[in-house]
Amino acid sequence: MKINKLPTHVAMIMDGNGRWALKRGKPRLFGHKMGVESLKRIVRACIELNIKYLSVYAFSTENWSRPKEEVDGIFGLVEDLCNNSLDKFNELDIKVVTMGDLSRLPNTLKNTLVDIKEATKNNKSLIFNIGINYGARAEIVRAVNNIISDGVQECTEQTFHNYLYTADLPDPDLIIRASGEKRLSNFMLYQCAYSEFYFPKTHWPDFSKKTLLKAIKAYQKRNRRFGGLKQENK
Ligand code: FPP
Repeated sequence: MKINKLPTHVAMIMDGNGRWALKRGKPRLFGHKMGVESLKRIVRACIELNIKYLSVYAFSTENWSRPKEEVDGIFGLVEDLCNNSLDKFNELDIKVVTMGDLSRLPNTLKNTLVDIKEATKNNKSLIFNIGINYGARAEIVRAVNNIISDGVQECTEQTFHNYLYTADLPDPDLIIRASGEKRLSNFMLYQCAYSEFYFPKTHWPDFSKKTLLKAIKAYQKRNRRFGGLKQENK
């Protein structure tokens, strides 16, 4: 592994939990539960590899159309993970941030997220960005409305960036979608302009450090040019 070509920011679409569970004759929520275990492994792996930013898609603005039981189940898993992990986050020096509209979430979950962000705000080793009630189109429209209501006369790319949920994060270098689907599903559409993509067939509950290393190796072979000529990877 060439350490000098590591992505700074990895973003994950944790897809395939439902199919993974159904294949084993289990309820979909069991797949999400195992997905959380997978996520914990990947957070640790990112710290070991010195990846600085990890963004994950936990719940999209479109996921409200799923059965209420599944929606509540996913919210419960996010809440449990946050409630049970504060010591771990501090021990591992993980700062939790979120992207998405928290105002529509159940109050207990919203408060848990607000609290964990506050309690980890001085940590630095890994910025762990949870996309929850997140959709890129909603993010862009929200930015436009806030720009208008702030009376901004001339909007530059930098101004626009500052109005996104990810104002404090660099753009993702590498976006990984588990489970073989090759689409973004309304994830970080503005931020992905020059991201590299990796689509392993692995369903998210089976995603391991080994899968991550394969993704990073593939990333390291790419020649990122950012519209120019033969620019080397970072
Ligand atoms: C996609 O699989 C997965 C989700 C919509 C939810 C993922 C959420 C978690 C693993 C909880 C994360 C927790 C934190 C703290 C971030 P799918 O249901 O679309 O799978 P399918 O395509 O096989 O049906």
